[in-house]
Amino acid sequence: MSRQTIVAANWKMNGNAELAAQMCRGLNDEKFNADQQVIICPPAPYLALLQANISNSQIACGAQNINENEKGAFTGEISALMLNDLQVQYVILGHSERRAMFHDSTELVAEKVAYALDSGLTPILCIGETLEEREDGETESRLSYQLAPVIAKVGIESFKNVVVAYEPVWAIGTGKTASAEIAQQTHEFIRSYLASFDADVAQQVPLLYGGSVNAKNCEELFAQADIDGGLIGGASLNVEEFKKICQAV
Ligand code: G3P
Repeated sequence: MSRQTIVAANWKMNGNAELAAQMCRGLNDEKFNADQQVIICPPAPYLALLQANISNSQIACGAQNINENEKGAFTGEISALMLNDLQVQYVILGHSERRAMFHDSTELVAEKVAYALDSGLTPILCIGETLEEREDGETESRLSYQLAPVIAKVGIESFKNVVVAYEPVWAIGTGKTASAEIAQQTHEFIRSYLASFDADVAQQVPLLYGGSVNAKNCEELFAQADIDGGLIGGASLNVEEFKKICQAV
């Protein structure tokens, strides 16, 4: 079966209402491959604006995080219920910046993935190793360590509704993109790790690459057998560049 291809934009803490309007104007009339999904993940204040102005059925919105509770005294947090309220479908979870700066542990990420799935959302689960871990030959053990608690929590069958994004920490925002060979090798490992739980599910899970993807390097990356698209940071803040990346998958 052919897997869904996905190009997702992670604006992080960037962008504004004008960029949201530009993105809608720039993408609404774009034609994409039949099995392609484009996802825009702006900062939360712009979700409603984007959701209201996207008219292309192959473009969806996503949040960059959710709290693992339904509602309550969690100042500054957003909930899955609020995303349901806005018909926002996707949510990035476990991004390396949240793991490093906001202490999202592997257990907390697993809890958030479970809550997102229970709320009918599609998690984009981020995993990735640091440069030191790669240089010490610990990439595969690190990625397994990040995946295992989520599989234990939600079960491998639930991964039919999960997107996995491999984002080597050393390639994020550095301009040092992983080579297509290294990215494919790592994606192949991730898919084989998932297959050790269920081969059919592993074949269905879209595996995205993230880390300094741009209009120049995306074609070679997306041509790899186990790379089903990308999770794009900096390059997604430029409408024309993001359009080129969407058309390359
Ligand atoms: O989530 C995507 C992000 O981490 C990649 O950022 O700027 O390297 O494309 P960037």
